[in-house]
Parts: sequence; structure tokens; C-alpha cells
Amino acid sequence: MPIGAITRGTTNPNRLRRVDRWAQTWPALRTTENPLVVDLGYGAKAVTPVEFIERIRKVRPDARLIGFEIDPDRVSSARAELASWAKAGRPVTGVAFELGGFETPLPTGKKAAMIRAFNVLRQYDEADVLEAWRRMVSALSDDGVLIEGTCDEIGRVSAWVAVTHDGPQSLSLSLKLDALEEPSIAAERLPKVLIHRNVEGESVHRFMTELDRAWKTHAPLGSFGASQRWVATVETMKSNGWPVQAGRTRWRLGEITVDWSAVAPNGFRWH
Ligand SMILES: C[S@@+](CC[C@H](N)C(=O)[O-])C[C@H]1O[C@@H](n2cnc3c(N)ncnc32)[C@H](O)[C@@H]1O
Repeated sequence: MPIGAITRGTTNPNRLRRVDRWAQTWPALRTTENPLVVDLGYGAKAVTPVEFIERIRKVRPDARLIGFEIDPDRVSSARAELASWAKAGRPVTGVAFELGGFETPLPTGKKAAMIRAFNVLRQYDEADVLEAWRRMVSALSDDGVLIEGTCDEIGRVSAWVAVTHDGPQSLSLSLKLDALEEPSIAAERLPKVLIHRNVEGESVHRFMTELDRAWKTHAPLGSFGASQRWVATVETMKSNGWPVQAGRTRWRLGEITVDWSAVAPNGFRWH
């Protein structure tokens, strides 16, 4: 039996563009000998796994994808979608859909360079997160990454954690900046491990509060464009001591990535 529970299959074309854009930058993707990526819990349609592999192939043209779903009907319908594209003369190659849960049942001897599990753990309990992460991580190659997160229906607000064999590495937020009132809109889309921790006394709460404050401080820059205002916001976070990763090229997209250690829940332990 696949490990986990069938949950709602809601998905939408292009909703995962923000996380996919970040996934393209994962260094090991370029160097791995085995560019196999997994979309775990792809939902009621095959559209987001196909978009995922198309984006990954921009940096790794020989990448292949296995999509796992815990719902057998969704496996059948995704396979039927693949077959119908092939029949229509638009075959999608190097993609397979299989029944599977958090155990990520790859063919014997295979490991994944990347697992994307989006809007899957959202419907579980916080207490289920660590075990699910550990199971998925055990299907990764030594330098592989699990990207686990959540977004809104159309992908304007997105948040994810990158997890390797050494445990969680970072938290990323990615926001559509036009008409953004407060970055803390991301609070309701935080990955399950953090969503209930956005309360006084937890680091992620301080992070969200300071992010809102910096965004407000830089409001006058909004007249030069929301992206300039965001870059200044992220620079302020960095100069205030937050371990912000990457640089302006990423920040301009409405992204901020910080070391996990800066936002980890109180008492969090990987080992
Ligand atoms: C809300 S949909 C997300 C679809 C897509 N990833 C997206 O973000 O648009 C969640 C999907 O995860 C599947 N799911 C839930 N638990 C799972 C598990 N343990 N293993 C595999 N799939 C799972 C559900 O059956 C559902 O189709």
C-alpha cells in the first residue's frame, strides 16, 4: 500500500512556475549522472508534472520524470492524458506516471536528483511532516533535494522548504509583487512544518514581521517599481542579519530564501 492518504486533487496550469524556476537553479541538477526527477502528488491532471519536466529540461535536456500519485484513478487519467497527447502528434517523452506514496517507489537501484512535493503535505498534520520528509529523502541521490511546499490556486504566493540528506536547508518565499500589500500574505501558504509556528516566540514569526516592516519602510521605492522595492526589502533583511541566500537576480523575481536555521521551529530536530 502506498504510504499516505488520498487528498483533494486540485491543481492548475502554471501554478508551480515559481518553485520550478527555483528548482532549475539547484546545482546538482547540472552535474548529476542520473537526472531523474519526481513529482509526488501531482493531482487530478498531468499538467504540472509536464510543465515541471519542461522547465527542468531547460537546464538538463536529458532529464526524465516519474509522477507518483496515491490515487489510482489519477494515475490512470494522467496516463490517458499522455496517450492522448501522443495520439494528437504532441508526444511527451521521458515521463511516466505511477502509483506511489511518500515511500517514492522508484525502480530498483534508481535514486532521484529532485523530488517536488507541492500542496501535498498541506492536507496532513504537522506531526506527519518529518516522517514523510524522511521517506522521500531516502529516495534521493546523495546530492539530491526534496522541495516541499505550498502555493495559492494560481501560484501568486508560494513557499517551500529544500530538504537534503542533511535535513532542511532553506525556506523560500516567492510572491507576485504587483499589488502586494504585505509579504506576510505568505503566512497562510507556509509549508506544513511552519504554518502553525507563525506565532509569537517562533523565529518564522519574527521573520514574517520583519519582512512586513522592511516592505513598509521601502514603500516610497514603489514608484520605481515593485521589484526595486522588493530588492531593497531583501537587502534590509540581509543587513539586519537574516542569512539571506542568492542575489538580486533571484530577488527581482519576488523571491527570498533564508537558511533553515533562521526560521526552524523551536525544538526542531532532524537527527
Ligand atoms: C492538492 S493536490 C496537488 C497537485 C499538484 N501537486 C499541485 O500543486 O497543483 C494533492 C495531491 O497529492 C496527492 N497525495 C496526497 N498524499 C500523497 C502521498 N502520500 N503520496 C502521493 N500522493 C499524495 C493527492 O491524492 C492529491 O492528488
